[in-house]
Amino acid sequence: MTDTSANIVLGDKKVEMPVKKGTIGPDVIDIGALYKNTGAFTYDPGFTSTAACESKITYIDGDNGVLLHRGYPIEQLAEHGDFLETCYLLLYGDLPTAAQKKDFDHRVTHHTMVHEQMNKFFSGFRRDAHPMAVMVGTVGALSAFYHDSTDITDPHQRMVASLRMIAKMPTIAAMAYKYHIGQPFVYPQNDLDYSTNFLRMCFAVPCEEYKVNPVLARAMDRIFILHADHEQNASTSTVRLAGSSGANPFACIAAGIACLWGPAHGGANEAALNMLQEIGTVDKIPEYIARAKDKNDPFRLMGFGHRVYKNYDPRAKIMQKTTHEVLAELGHKDDPLLQVAMELEKIALTDPYFIEKKLYPNIDFYSGITLKAMGFPTTMFTVLFALARTVGWIAQWAEMIEDPQQRIGRPRQLYTGEAQRDYVPVSKR
Ligand code: CMC
Repeated sequence: MTDTSANIVLGDKKVEMPVKKGTIGPDVIDIGALYKNTGAFTYDPGFTSTAACESKITYIDGDNGVLLHRGYPIEQLAEHGDFLETCYLLLYGDLPTAAQKKDFDHRVTHHTMVHEQMNKFFSGFRRDAHPMAVMVGTVGALSAFYHDSTDITDPHQRMVASLRMIAKMPTIAAMAYKYHIGQPFVYPQNDLDYSTNFLRMCFAVPCEEYKVNPVLARAMDRIFILHADHEQNASTSTVRLAGSSGANPFACIAAGIACLWGPAHGGANEAALNMLQEIGTVDKIPEYIARAKDKNDPFRLMGFGHRVYKNYDPRAKIMQKTTHEVLAELGHKDDPLLQVAMELEKIALTDPYFIEKKLYPNIDFYSGITLKAMGFPTTMFTVLFALARTVGWIAQWAEMIEDPQQRIGRPRQLYTGEAQRDYVPVSKR
């Protein structure tokens, strides 16, 4: 929708650009004609003021700590729904009816096995490889196994690829874990729900019965819901950019996983737990707060701050509650890491440095403690994030492919290198 415009005057050239309005959120200035009319580009490293696409999937109001999927607040989805319902919502645009939910759950459940040849693929990796390295490789390799769902022009194949990825990601993530610790792979079991099945594939061994604790399964499911999508973050933008060239969806998701791995993005939960362990005791907190504030010290409080949220991350509140539930269930209520986390949060929220810079705990601050208590090693934390975010990536990828305005993503640059110069033969340099 356009009802106003913005003007840019550059020397003797003036260009009027339409201003588009979303349903909610900031207006955007459509600068598509800027280069043609003025010969100038815009410059916005880190995309702090740039909307790269139009989307109907997820909305974040960072100032007020709001996160909506297809209009539904994350708090309501996490409280009342399950992860596959959120998947359906992200993919199809609406909450499923009971019949649609049953059918969707069935379709996902019956795609959870991976091609048997994939088992052999794993053995090419060193056992001490980081499971995220294994994830990038094995998910990328899916395109070598499922040729019948890589034609991106076919809507049916797109949906099959989407379901395959949502269904197989827990199996692959659990395999990455089992391979890492030297245990046999555990096959999925179709009478279990998504999260129970995943925990069983991670923690069961063939030599004894294993019953998944329902409190932990519910916590896992909630963690998946909280990580399902987060609009145009770095990894999602990576998936969109990779997909804009027409690459197949398995390859695009592998690109997203690679981007997620970094400590400023998905790797922050691992970094946050390592930091809490390094702090160790409550009396050490002031020292670390001082380091975080020191301009000459690169240390940052991991799990604090967010590019978009300048308020409490709504996911962090739900995560905090889940942490307490899990620790109570496992009898770890007095976990020293939890004590350090709660005290650190309290101090940071009242410290002028953090208040002025609007640095609040983000989702990663509490997720590490919970996942550790559930039995996951830190190296698996980002893998779990990737598993959950797959639906967001694939929904955003599909939206992009279906967008009639879609073109290959090709940013421009401000060139500050040498101007043209003549080649000098090596004997004359
Ligand atoms: N501890 C101490 N100071 C901080 C922190 C922090 N965690 N985060 C930001 N600041 C300061 C930063 O030094 C800067 O100060 P100044 O204006 O004086 O130079 C100011 O706050 C703004 O920071 P920024 O780096 O310009 O902000 P950004 O939007 O580029 O970065 C961020 C956002 C998440 C990368 C950053 O806050 C950070 O590194 N946090 C720690 C890592 C983390 O927890 N990441 C998980 C993000 S949530 C999960 C996800 O979406 O992937």
